[in-house]
Amino acid sequence: MRKPFIAGNWKMNKTSAETKEILAELKPLVAEATCDMAICVPFTDLSAARKELRGSNIKLGAQNVHWAESGAFTGEISAAMLKEQRVDYVILGHSERRQYFGETSETVNKRAVAALGSRIRPIVCVGETLIERETGHTEEVLYAQVTESLKGFKTRDFEKIIIAYEPVWAIGTGKTATPEEANETIAFIRGVLATKFSKLVAENTRILYGGSMNAGNVKQLMAMPEIDGGLIGGASLKPEEFARICNYNL
Ligand code: PGA
Repeated sequence: MRKPFIAGNWKMNKTSAETKEILAELKPLVAEATCDMAICVPFTDLSAARKELRGSNIKLGAQNVHWAESGAFTGEISAAMLKEQRVDYVILGHSERRQYFGETSETVNKRAVAALGSRIRPIVCVGETLIERETGHTEEVLYAQVTESLKGFKTRDFEKIIIAYEPVWAIGTGKTATPEEANETIAFIRGVLATKFSKLVAENTRILYGGSMNAGNVKQLMAMPEIDGGLIGGASLKPEEFARICNYNL
């Protein structure tokens, strides 16, 4: 069975002092949650978040990792550096990185290899833009992103890999895909996993929905059989709202 997973993506928000405050407020609010949870913070907040989350049921995540072990890569962070901060998850290939920082499925693949090598679980993001959806290219785009980002991985690697389907047109816009639309597209992604990898991989890999998911729509989205959780941006910065999302089934 696929255990529901709710992850917060803080993007480039919050200082270490603010991180400490938000997480201190969040912890007791989600103490009874039954899903897996993680908060993916900026690199500079990892240390504060690690200390604050110690002993809690919330795991720590980062938002990117470089593929090399070390070297002349100014501004980058390695998997070993993340592991030292007790990072369990790393978001890879978010559409903002694909759009503004030249991220490609090929580099996402290299980053995912490095993450797994340090026992960090990659949350691999895929999703179509509005123009791609409107011109009927959604499946083609997702097929390419999924197969290229996950190229070369074996069944056992998928025990640690999480996929996040985030339609670009729904991120930070207040426009959510309808639960049916999200369910249908995630079913398509599962079909790609079945044909390119195996039926087992398709059945066991958790696929999250992301894009304006909030306390008001979480129940309808989570009621869909293909949706295994959420990657939450804006709403994850508000402890009370994020807690309501994590407690969607209580
Ligand atoms: P949003 O962002 O929830 O603010 O739409 C989701 C994401 O970008 O991961």
